[in-house]
Amino acid sequence: MADNSEVLARDGDKGDMARFFATWVRHPIAMGAVAPSSRAYCRMMVEKATTELDGPVLELGPGLGAVTRALLEKGVDPARITSIEYDRDFADALKTRFREVNVIQGDGFDLDKTLKDQGATRFAAILFAIPIVSMAQEKRQALFRQYFKRLLPGGNLTQLSYMWSPPVRPVEGVFTVDSSDIVWNNIPPARVWIYDQDRRGTDRANEGNA
Ligand SMILES: C[S@@+](CC[C@H](N)C(=O)[O-])C[C@H]1O[C@@H](n2cnc3c(N)ncnc32)[C@H](O)[C@@H]1O
Repeated sequence: MADNSEVLARDGDKGDMARFFATWVRHPIAMGAVAPSSRAYCRMMVEKATTELDGPVLELGPGLGAVTRALLEKGVDPARITSIEYDRDFADALKTRFREVNVIQGDGFDLDKTLKDQGATRFAAILFAIPIVSMAQEKRQALFRQYFKRLLPGGNLTQLSYMWSPPVRPVEGVFTVDSSDIVWNNIPPARVWIYDQDRRGTDRANEGNA
């Protein structure tokens, strides 16, 4: 784990509430929340993400960097983190705030286009905070299937969402879904949703070979 005290010392979240709210007024669907997630909620997100695996870490929808900060506080090396943010002003702010993080202004729904890597990069963990409530369930599942192709073995996808039931239903043989305890210290209180690779297909095949 990295000592990120110097990187974090440069960060300041003064004015983030007002800035976040002003952006929500202009783009309520893309923002999905009126305020940044609380520190407790971001810490829970990072605790549940498989950042202990070797490999790059992908953050989707970082906003003004509440989860990015929690990743750095946990000691994740900033050079491992790629953060994709659609809002140009937010992306610029993140680039100034976290210079060692690979911040990309672009569409987190289309990784091939945004990462320009023809699907080559695999991640130890994907931390997802883009609002998807307006998306049909089948589309959400199709999106997550794509994300799971980008995970290293054992890696997971964690999601910030205020929904009380799984925002994306499991897809057999691809991913399962679970949740953290409710984090009450957030407006509104919410859980972290945890999607793990569904090993059942592989396990059954291995049993057949035994
Ligand atoms: C609910 S906010 C979460 C911000 C931050 N992670 C937090 O928890 O405070 C959602 C963020 O996703 C960004 N976003 C929306 N659509 C996106 C897309 N297609 N690609 C990347 N980011 C997107 C929004 O601009 C916004 O910053």
